[in-house]
Amino acid sequence: MSEHPQRASFLANQRWFAGKGRDFEITDVRVLAALSETVRIELVDVAYAEGTPATETYQMPVSHYPGPQERLGHALVREGDGEWTYDAVHDRDAMAVYLEVFDTGEDLDGLAVHRLAGHDLDTSTHSTVFGGEQSNSSVAFGEDSLMKVFRKLTTGTNPDVEIHEALTRAGNTHVASLYGYLSAEDEQLQLAMLQQFLRTASDGWVLALTSARNLYLEADLHPHEVGGDFAAEAHRLGATIAEIHQVLAGTFGTTTIDPAAIGQQMSDRFRAATSVVPDLSAYEDAVQSRFAALAEVPSGTPGLVAHRIHGDLHLGQTLRTSLGWKLVDFEGEPAKPLAERRLPDSPWRDVAGMVRSLDYAAASTAADLEATEHGYDQIGYRAHEWVEHNVAALLDGYTEQRGVPITGVEQTLLDAYVADKAVYEAAYEARNRPGWLPIPLAALDRLAKQPR
Ligand SMILES: Nc1ncnc2c1ncn2[C@@H]1O[C@H](COP(=O)(O)OP(=O)(O)O)[C@@H](O)[C@H]1O
Ligand SMILES: [Mg+2]
Repeated sequence: MSEHPQRASFLANQRWFAGKGRDFEITDVRVLAALSETVRIELVDVAYAEGTPATETYQMPVSHYPGPQERLGHALVREGDGEWTYDAVHDRDAMAVYLEVFDTGEDLDGLAVHRLAGHDLDTSTHSTVFGGEQSNSSVAFGEDSLMKVFRKLTTGTNPDVEIHEALTRAGNTHVASLYGYLSAEDEQLQLAMLQQFLRTASDGWVLALTSARNLYLEADLHPHEVGGDFAAEAHRLGATIAEIHQVLAGTFGTTTIDPAAIGQQMSDRFRAATSVVPDLSAYEDAVQSRFAALAEVPSGTPGLVAHRIHGDLHLGQTLRTSLGWKLVDFEGEPAKPLAERRLPDSPWRDVAGMVRSLDYAAASTAADLEATEHGYDQIGYRAHEWVEHNVAALLDGYTEQRGVPITGVEQTLLDAYVADKAVYEAAYEARNRPGWLPIPLAALDRLAKQPR
């Protein structure tokens, strides 16, 4: 029992801990498997004082030593009874043990080790843990491979592993190849995956921000005239998404969505969001008419196809390498239960995610500059121009790749998903980042002013 207060305060400070700001206690810590004398995988159950979810389970790979390790001071999980326990992802020696386990490919007590053919691991590399806002922990092994340790665990198939495996086996070049993964409890818990390290990768979000900023600083030019125009990239990104959708449809199969039911859910979500953000009511007619349009779509229309999708697509889940765009992080919408995230869904939800992300890139850059020397109206206008230009390119890339122009029904779906996403963002920002609330509200305002 005595270890729990230390571990709880460690947990509360981790980026990947989803319960920040909530009262919780650790109800159980158990060892799932030992990888060596020093390194083991622990599962930590957390119970919250109130709210949902009421409980969560986190994975903590740890290394334990009979004395303090100065090099790991920042990663101390607990100490006591002559044992010092550290977060293993920060511990190079512990990460070398993980790499060895993958390289050997042999199961351990309590741990199943899966390897895919096609790549010999470079075991001479050193590990570096990634920083940044992440919901899991990623560790690079030189420039050879990257291990992602899933933090919040739920029983069942992890879609990130599942989709990377399927796309790797299909020879798709728009994801990092899967090299292997670790699982436990008869495959019911997937713990970590090892994949190709994407060299020369630039974050799509950062590239988009840079492009928008370049435009704002060139007062007299239009997006296509400015150095750093993003449209060719947006076009290629659209094509990449379409290609991945085709493979997902081919691999996991297709079904259809019920547009009226989806429109009803969106409408209900809008009503719930309005109680959090009363300003949303100004856009009620515009938003609700888009949702209501879904009920008019005749069933059996080809645009209603559903298949496995990315599920949480935005520019932060894209990397531009010298060999083209790659999509990462197929875990799906983190707030949804695992089983729901693996259901077929409309590909237009992914496209809408990217459309909203382009708007965020332009608007957040504009907000940064507004605080400095530039006039807001001018930049606001140009931000909008940048978004229209790049959304058009994204859609062109998407439809050209699949060889079919966007249909009226698909446009209706896309409009509804975009509006629904902006409503979700408004509720999210009001709760978490009130300074960003104007971004989705401005998008809904523009939508309300659009002729229909
Ligand atoms: N294969 C890879 N090679 C290099 N960098 C990667 C790779 N996969 C992901 N990344 C980087 O790591 C970050 C986190 O990865 P992601 O899978 O999105 O983890 P999380 O679930 O924690 O969000 C990404 O934003 C990306 O910048
Ligand atoms: Mg991510």
